[in-house]
This record gives sequence, C-alpha cells and structure tokens, in this order.
Amino acid sequence: MDQLRNGRQVRKHRLGFPCCRKAYSVLVFFVTCVLGGTLTQRSPEGQDVFSEHFPRLDWQPTRAPEAAEYAGKVSCGQCHAKEAATYHSTPMARALELASESKILKSHLPLKFQSGPYTFKVQRLGHELVYEVSDNQATISEPVQWVFGSGEAGQTFLIQHQGAYYESRVSLFSDIEKLDFTLGHPRTVPDSLLDALGQELSPDKVLACFACHSTASVSGTKLQLDRMVPGITCEGCHGPGGRHVRAALAGKVEEIPMFNPGKLSEEDQLDYCGSCHRSYLQVELMGLRGVNNVRFQPYRLANSTCFKTEDSRISCSACHNPHEARQRHSAFYDSRCIACHSKRQVDPAGPSKVSICPTGKAQCTVCHMPKYKLPGGHFEFTDHQIRIVRSNSDYPN
Ligand code: HEC
Ligand code: HEC
Ligand code: HEC
Ligand code: HEC
Ligand code: HEC
Ligand code: HEC
Ligand code: HEC
Repeated sequence: MDQLRNGRQVRKHRLGFPCCRKAYSVLVFFVTCVLGGTLTQRSPEGQDVFSEHFPRLDWQPTRAPEAAEYAGKVSCGQCHAKEAATYHSTPMARALELASESKILKSHLPLKFQSGPYTFKVQRLGHELVYEVSDNQATISEPVQWVFGSGEAGQTFLIQHQGAYYESRVSLFSDIEKLDFTLGHPRTVPDSLLDALGQELSPDKVLACFACHSTASVSGTKLQLDRMVPGITCEGCHGPGGRHVRAALAGKVEEIPMFNPGKLSEEDQLDYCGSCHRSYLQVELMGLRGVNNVRFQPYRLANSTCFKTEDSRISCSACHNPHEARQRHSAFYDSRCIACHSKRQVDPAGPSKVSICPTGKAQCTVCHMPKYKLPGGHFEFTDHQIRIVRSNSDYPN
C-alpha cells in the first residue's frame, strides 16, 4: 500500500497538482505563456494542457504543423490493412461530418421540437439541410453546415448566422431519436429567437470544436478548413504521414517512421488520448466537480486506486483498441482486470500487492465501473474511476 501511495505521490507531483501548488503555478505559467505561442494553446476551457512529460512532438493530435504533408484518408490502408479494415466505421472516424453526408441525420428528417413559443425544425429544403427556429412573429433559417458527433450519443449542428458560428440549441439524441436541448445549454425556454438558434461561439471555441473532431483543421491558432479532413483519421493520431508513405513506397520506411502511441508510458498515453478526451490537468484547471466529469476518462482513470504510472496494464489501449469500435460486453474486460487481480499476482512482498474480489468472478466492470447519465443527457458514460461502489456513497470527485 505504501508503495502504491508513493506511486500516486509521484504521479500527482509530476502532474504538479495538488500536492505542490508552487510547481502547479509554475507549470500553468509555463503551459500558458511559454508554449502559448507554439505548440500548445490554452483556451479558456483549458484546452491542450498536459503534464510536463507529455511528448513534445512537432505536431499534436489537435494541431497540425504548418505546411505538414498529409497523405489522406485512404492511403494508409494500402499497407496497414488490418487497422484500416475496422477503423473507418468507428465513432472516432465519424466524429464530424458534412451535413449533406450525415446518414444518421438524414434518416431522421424532418425533426421538430417545441419549447414555449419557439418551434425548432431540421428539414430538407431543396438540396440543403436547414435548421429553422421560429416564434409567432419571426423565423431564422440557416443551412446546417457541420454535424458534430457520430451519433453514438448525439449530434450537434454548427450553423453560421450573420458571419458568426453558432452551436445549435438543440441536438439529435440517438437513444430517443429526437431533438432535445444540447448538453451544456440551458434547458429552459429560450429568451429570444437568437437564443433559440444557439450559442454564439468565440473563434477560440470554433477552433477547439474542429481541433478535437477532425484532422489537420487547426495549425497554430489558424482554422484551415480547406485542409481539414472531417473526423479523426489515422494521421490525427499518428501525425502527418506523407513522407512516411513515400519512404515506405521507396523501401526506406525506417528513415521516416511514424509516431506509435503504443510506445508511450502509461501516464503520457493518458495525456495523449487526453488531448481530446481531456487530460488530468485540464480537468483540474476546469475545476469540474461532480458527475459532469464522468466523460473525462483520463481524469477518472488516474484517480483509481488501480492506476499506477508506468504500468501499461491499465493504459487506455490496454482496454481499447483505438482501431476498433469499443467492446460493449463487460466480459471482454475481465482479462484486463485479472491481469492484476489474480492469485498469481498476490505476493505480499511484491511491489504491487493486489486483492481479489470476495464477491464476483466475472463481469467486473458491471459492478466496479458504473454508468452515469449527465444531467439532461441521454447517454450513459462509464465511470473510469475503478472502485468499490457502495449503494449509499456519493459520486467521488
Ligand atoms: C507503402 C506502405 C505503407 C504505407 C502507405 C503506410 N505505411 Fe506505415 N509502415 C509501413 C512499414 C513497412 C512499416 C514498418 C513495419 C511495420 O511496423 O509494419 C510501417 C510502420 C508504421 C507504424 C508503426 C511505427 C512503429 O514504430 O511501431 C505506424 C504507426 C504506421 N506505419 C502508420 C502509418 C500511417 C498512419 C499511414 C498513413 C498515413 C501509413 N503508415 C502508411 C508501410 C506503410
Ligand atoms: C477537447 C476536445 C473536444 C472539444 C474542444 C470538443 N469536443 Fe466534442 N467530443 C470530444 C470527445 C472526446 C467526445 C467523446 C466523449 C464525450 O462524449 O464526451 C466528444 C463528443 C461530442 C459529441 C457527442 C458525440 C457522440 O455521438 O458520441 C458531440 C455532439 C460533440 N462532441 C460536439 C462538439 C461541439 C459542437 C464542440 C464545440 C462547441 C465540441 N464537441 C468540442 C472532444 C471534444
Ligand atoms: C483528435 C482527438 C481524439 C484523440 C487524440 C483521441 N480521441 Fe477518442 N474520441 C474522440 C472523439 C471526438 C470521440 C467521439 C466520437 C463520436 O462519437 O462522435 C471519441 C470517442 C472515443 C471512444 C468511444 C468510441 C466508441 O466506439 O464508442 C473511445 C473508446 C475512444 N475515443 C478512445 C480513445 C483512445 C484510447 C485514445 C488514445 C489512444 C483516443 N480515443 C484519442 C476524439 C479523440
Ligand atoms: C485514436 C487514435 C488512433 C487512430 C485514429 C489510429 N491509431 Fe493506430 N495506433 C494507436 C495506438 C494507441 C496504437 C498503439 C496500440 C497498442 O500498442 O496497443 C496504434 C498502433 C498502430 C500501429 C502499430 C501496430 C503494431 O502492431 O505495433 C499501426 C501500423 C497503426 N496504428 C496504424 C493505424 C492506421 C492505418 C490507422 C487508420 C486506419 C490508425 N492507426 C488510426 C492510435 C490510433
Ligand atoms: C480497465 C479497462 C479500461 C481502461 C483502462 C479504459 N477504459 Fe474506456 N471503457 C471501458 C469500459 C468497460 C467501457 C464501457 C464499454 C461499454 O459498456 O460499452 C469504456 C468506455 C469508454 C468510452 C465510451 C464512453 C463511456 O464513457 O462509456 C470512451 C470514450 C473511453 N472508454 C475512453 C477511454 C480512454 C480515453 C481511456 C484512457 C484514459 C480509457 N477509456 C481507459 C474500460 C476501460
Ligand atoms: C495494473 C494493475 C491493475 C489493473 C489492470 C486493475 N487493477 Fe484494480 N487495483 C490495482 C491495485 C494495485 C489496487 C490497490 C490494491 C488492492 O486493493 O488490490 C487496485 C484496487 C482495486 C479495487 C479496490 C479499490 C478500493 O477502492 O479499495 C477494485 C474494486 C479494483 N481494483 C477493481 C479492478 C477492476 C474491476 C479492474 C478491471 C476493470 C481492475 N481493478 C484493473 C491494480 C490493478
Ligand atoms: C456483483 C458485483 C461485483 C462483481 C461482478 C465483481 N465485484 Fe469486486 N467487489 C464487489 C463488492 C461489493 C466489493 C466490496 C466487498 C466488501 O468490501 O465487502 C468488491 C471488492 C473488490 C475488490 C477489493 C477487495 C478487497 O479486499 O479490498 C477488488 C480488488 C475487486 N472487487 C475486484 C473485482 C474484479 C477483478 C472482478 C472481476 C473478476 C470483480 N471485482 C467483480 C462487487 C463485485
């Protein structure tokens, strides 16, 4: 146990929080000011904030280097057929779509929702998909340009109105197959027609939406929609691959290897997936408490007693193959738990003393990784803070 505590101390220390406030402020200063102009931009939401050990590549999953050479969506599959065979239909690959290409949205049209005097409609008008809000006197009607979200949980629309981007006030939720208020927006009758349209997004926020839901859309602080590939492609996670492909075709692949996140330490991988799923530090900076932080898996996982730095048996990729849709059967994850929690592992003198469950032998996640709906949400997130759940206990932060 002491050993474990030490492990946690080390982690907290490395992340600079909360055991050492001074290191934390220095780190925040470092991240915001020093890296501010280069790789890492910190938005008001605490975007792109990593521990000091995060690998400093010349690109990041949410940032393309200037003039980077991308090979495009189909090229990697020529040689990496196994990954490509399953990847392109995953939710991550479909995290953003042009409205005209969104099969899910199109198959649900027309959509209608009422709140007080306001009527919301998403419908096809001629060649366009149109988002329309009206009260008894007036109507705002704009084409839906971008559909955010694969529809795994829901889809939110990005609309342009009088030169500004808006996040739609209502979204399509998959499990009710209807419109309802977008998560994070008030669930009350809108104040005005403009308020019913949605939330006007600052340029920073627009950038952030695209950075996490697409590939090569953001370079530095610049939105480059002309170079963007919607959704997260192979190169979103492995970096620009144009030169790798050319080298491979010339039989000199070893000269231009690709970045392989499987070689990251466990802690760095949490930050790496956390560049979109939110890193531990980002969640701390956002100060997000309560069940709303259940969707930030890197933060929740790092708070588990199971979590130890540098043990790859509990990295994100120990349980998820990022090239496939997630496994939905609890039994799939049992072997991951048993890798540590088994008789074989119980060695009081060993470095990782683990205990064995007195209650269950299978489907460990059903009891130890409970599911939660966000307030107003229609999707159940899995709590990655692995723990004993007592019926009377509160949600631990
Ligand atoms: C012309 C064939 C070819 C193409 C196209 C190609 N690769 Fe590779 N790639 C290779 C070869 C050969 C290797 C080295 C042997 C191996 O690991 O399979 C490799 C290795 C890799 C690795 C492992 C790196 C490591 O150090 O473990 C990754 C990741 C990778 N490629 C990603 C990509 C991505 C992403 C694309 C598309 C942008 C791509 N490759 C396109 C041939 C190719
Ligand atoms: C820091 C990265 C990040 C930013 C910024 C971000 N997202 Fe996401 N978004 C994610 C991740 C990761 C998920 C999947 C996990 C979840 O639902 O929280 C997601 C999920 C979603 C979903 C649900 C998708 C589904 O069906 O599962 C929608 C809709 C969505 N985001 C829309 C947006 C919009 C619109 C913006 C900008 C206002 C935005 N996101 C900004 C990372 C981000
Ligand atoms: C460039 C941003 C980005 C990065 C990097 C990223 N993700 Fe995601 N991930 C997303 C978004 C956005 C979604 C939501 C997709 C949707 O449903 O629209 C998502 C969804 C997922 C899902 C749910 C998929 C499903 O089948 O339901 C899993 C699991 C996941 N990510 C794991 C990972 C892991 C593991 C890593 C690191 C190896 C990672 N992600 C890195 C953006 C990212
Ligand atoms: C969400 C992030 C993400 C995306 C998108 C992604 N990968 Fe990967 N890739 C990873 C991670 C993480 C690993 C390491 C897996 C591991 O070691 O368990 C990896 C490993 C690999 C490897 C090395 C495999 C090996 O056996 O060592 C190759 C090759 C590869 N990816 C190719 C691709 C191709 C091709 C695509 C697109 C079709 C793709 N990846 C999309 C995250 C991603
Ligand atoms: C010990 C195993 C384990 C590890 C490690 C793990 N996950 Fe999961 N994850 C799960 C399980 C179990 C589910 C729920 C599967 C289901 O019921 O569909 C899940 C679901 C998800 C989902 C879908 C949304 C949700 O919350 O249900 C995302 C996204 C995700 N994981 C991301 C990650 C990321 C990012 C990491 C690394 C920080 C990670 N996971 C590490 C077991 C794990
Ligand atoms: C990398 C090894 C490792 C993995 C993988 C792992 N654990 Fe753990 N877990 C530990 C250690 C170490 C402890 C602390 C000592 C103990 O109580 O056994 C722990 C503690 C626990 C506890 C007690 C927590 C508490 O609050 O007292 C539960 C419950 C648990 N793990 C369940 C799981 C489940 C379920 C999985 C799979 C989803 C899992 N663990 C995967 C190492 C691991
Ligand atoms: C039916 C629900 C259920 C299932 C399934 C289940 N557990 Fe548990 N587990 C519990 C409960 C409840 C406790 C707390 C027992 C107590 O303290 O009385 C517990 C305790 C634990 C502990 C802490 C033991 C200790 O001595 O501190 C670990 C570790 C653990 N479980 C791991 C697992 C693993 C690994 C699996 C899958 C092989 C699993 N559990 C399956 C309900 C479950």
